Amino acid sequence: MTPTPVVLGPGDVPAVQELFLDDGGYCLRVHGHPPRPDQAERLFAALPPGKTAADKYVLGLREHDVLIAVLDLVRGYPKPEVAYVGLLQVAVRARGQGMGRCLHEHAVALATAWPEVERLRLSVVDANLSHASRFWEGLGYTPTGEQRPWHRGDGGTAWMSQWERTLLTAAP
Ligand SMILES: CC(C)(COP(=O)(O)OP(=O)(O)OC[C@H]1O[C@@H](n2cnc3c(N)ncnc32)[C@H](O)[C@@H]1OP(=O)(O)O)[C@@H](O)C(=O)NCCC(=O)NCCS
Repeated sequence: MTPTPVVLGPGDVPAVQELFLDDGGYCLRVHGHPPRPDQAERLFAALPPGKTAADKYVLGLREHDVLIAVLDLVRGYPKPEVAYVGLLQVAVRARGQGMGRCLHEHAVALATAWPEVERLRLSVVDANLSHASRFWEGLGYTPTGEQRPWHRGDGGTAWMSQWERTLLTAAP
């Protein structure tokens, strides 16, 4: 069955939370703590500086009515011509089956409707580089060379690299 792309809203918090709870260690690696009881609520509430809820889209993939992947996309951050991928997470049992690529393609399609957007951007926390860099390279992203501090949820500080691709460049 082909998964169905959906735009998620606050009513989907329980489904997103369920996906977050079984994350294969992602939250611990990146945030320094296991998923919190309000991890999904935080996803819907979080906004980068200067952005409003109208700029943020939380997308998902459902298979047999079960949420198997989630991605958040912010229009016009950090610049009007950039859309920012804040998170892409696939349920552990659905990984390695093209779901991450599939949901990312839906995000590309959404951003393509925004005439001012030319590029997609995301951050990869250093501790997650070995898990995610080949995935992002496969989708056409390359590091910009910028490093930014990442303030982890456990109070620690790490580094994250910035990655970009042009919106319409076909992935290699
Ligand atoms: C990273 C993640 C989103 C990938 O999702 P996925 O559904 O397993 O990836 P896909 O099956 O769509 O893979 C797409 C391509 O990337 C490759 N790929 C995926 N994960 C990879 C890995 N860890 N190492 C190397 N290649 C990888 C696949 O082989 C595939 O290549 P192909 O299209 O040429 O066959 C998923 O592993 C995940 O949710 N990880 C935890 C959260 C996370 O780290 N998110 C990224 C934050 S920066």
